[in-house]
Amino acid sequence: MSSASLASASQLEQPSTPLSPWLERKVGELVAEDFRRAHVFSQFGIDFCCGGGRALINACERAQADPYKVVAALEYMTNSGAKEDELNQLPLEQLIDYIERTHHQYVRAKAPLLLEYSEKMVRAHGEHYAEIVPFAGWVRALIEDLMPHLMKEENILFPAIRAMSQGEQVQGCFGHIGNPINAMQHEHEDAGLILQKLHELTNGFTPPEYACTTWRVCYATLAEFEADLHRHIHLENNILFPKALQLT
Ligand SMILES: [Fe+2]
Ligand SMILES: [Fe+2]
Repeated sequence: MSSASLASASQLEQPSTPLSPWLERKVGELVAEDFRRAHVFSQFGIDFCCGGGRALINACERAQADPYKVVAALEYMTNSGAKEDELNQLPLEQLIDYIERTHHQYVRAKAPLLLEYSEKMVRAHGEHYAEIVPFAGWVRALIEDLMPHLMKEENILFPAIRAMSQGEQVQGCFGHIGNPINAMQHEHEDAGLILQKLHELTNGFTPPEYACTTWRVCYATLAEFEADLHRHIHLENNILFPKALQLT
């Protein structure tokens, strides 16, 4: 791994604990402790079955995976899991507050950066590397889909769910609450399809050897953005929306 990739990853996703306790552990042991770690290892191409006896640092090297990113993903998953039960118990108004403060704010903070990085990549390298122009186009499409999506949730659906959870009868222009919920779920699927395109186009957000720092930072930011969006959509589709429908 180059020092440039280490530097860019560490600036973005410096894990909150020292790396070594993670990196010295055997991959198989980590999965045995918490099977969800298998998903993280799969995402980075780390062999946790036959290669389960290797220390994580060696497994990262073998898979050419950045250890900073792997540990950050493991920590993210662990922290998210710990909150899952708490979030599931929250009254809907507080769950909505959490989604807005955490995930909507995150999208608004990172979206301009993703546009800036991808446009810079087009200007610097678009003529030489065929994947860059379509990559930047899909990044723009993702952001252009997400920004109005946030507004619709914040201005139409979430206020309606808040009112319903206070026992009020909601008479919105949208009819039954199931209608805007369906619309939001379709938009989630659209965002998921765009992320899938971006995943394919970037080989799972893996920068090529020759990638410059902006390119590396852009892919690392997008990988983090994807993880956040998956969690955001999970909270809405699997917790908030089903509970809102039960109020009708
Ligand atoms: Fe949302
Ligand atoms: Fe949403």
